[in-house]
Amino acid sequence: MQGKMTWESPSNIALVKYWGKYGDQLPQNPSLSMTLHKALTTTSIHYSNNYNQEEVKLSFLFDDQPNADFEKRLFHYLVRLTDRYPLISRLRLEVSSRNTFPHSSGIASSASAFSALALGLLSVIEEVSGEKRNTDSFFQEASNLARMGSGSASRSVYGGYVVWGKTDGFPKYSNSTAHPVTTAIHPVFQEMHDSILIVNAATKKVGSSAGHGLMNTNPFAKVRYQQAEQHVIEMHQVLTNGDLERFIQIVEQEALTLHALMMASQPGYLLLEGGTLAIIDRVKQFRNDTKIPLCFTLDAGPNVHLLYPASYKAEIDDLIKRELLLFCTSNHFLDDGIGHGPTKVTNQG
Ligand code: DP6
Repeated sequence: MQGKMTWESPSNIALVKYWGKYGDQLPQNPSLSMTLHKALTTTSIHYSNNYNQEEVKLSFLFDDQPNADFEKRLFHYLVRLTDRYPLISRLRLEVSSRNTFPHSSGIASSASAFSALALGLLSVIEEVSGEKRNTDSFFQEASNLARMGSGSASRSVYGGYVVWGKTDGFPKYSNSTAHPVTTAIHPVFQEMHDSILIVNAATKKVGSSAGHGLMNTNPFAKVRYQQAEQHVIEMHQVLTNGDLERFIQIVEQEALTLHALMMASQPGYLLLEGGTLAIIDRVKQFRNDTKIPLCFTLDAGPNVHLLYPASYKAEIDDLIKRELLLFCTSNHFLDDGIGHGPTKVTNQG
């Protein structure tokens, strides 16, 4: 048996950050993210089933080129999954992947990459085994498999606002899979924009996995995990009642806390750059002067995400071009916003 499966999955930006993990990729605190629209990974898996082999056979192309590092990471990931799905070891897989965003843009690609991969792999498993799940169970399992590749990828399996991790008062939320926020979202948060300012596109000095690891000895870890849970609970109310002021406070406190935790790690480290700080300063000044509800958030790197309701796009574009682009590498920024989640590509070309 052979065939091909293609999925396209977006990246996401965390409003409440996942930072700290334990066991098999389980989060120390719940996180809440907004799925993006344009920053996508498309992954095709050409598969065939070979009854005479005992170990999965894999080749991997990124942008049509071999990529040994990612192929190795993918191979180990597949071997780990054979405990759950023994049939994986009988598969021959040719995986090929590409991103819509530039490779060296500094955008975290593991979320969209592992989400697209997990969705594709689960589709292949269903096809080969002949055992199909219902839609809910399919996406829950895809989120679970994506998490095992990269924690934040568990959230990219869904569109809109997504929570991953046990949260007080929300019995359905769990550490193993993400869930979409299903409470009514206020209109102001239904069309959020995210302009991503690329301050430095180079690979991070300290990767996320090492950063998560340093939370195990961080003296502020316990209180941080409690704060994140409180923020996730409060963010549900904010997304429903449209309280932009509180949204801005939580989002910016989360961004700065993430980097404060890095600085307070043992050893401490710093991923913010001069351009990052200059942009943050100007964003605050602009909000003060104009009363436009613009805020910033940060990933584990120096690049800045500007979040704002779609109705202010013209004013923010003007601010970026006038005052912020000078802090961006090659005058680079990416225009994105809230998205609906992954899609299965049915035309296999
Ligand atoms: C700061 O999901 O990249 O972006 O699970 O080790 O792959 P691994 O880490 P990763 O961590 C993301 C951390 C973050 C915050 C977030 O997305 O919640």
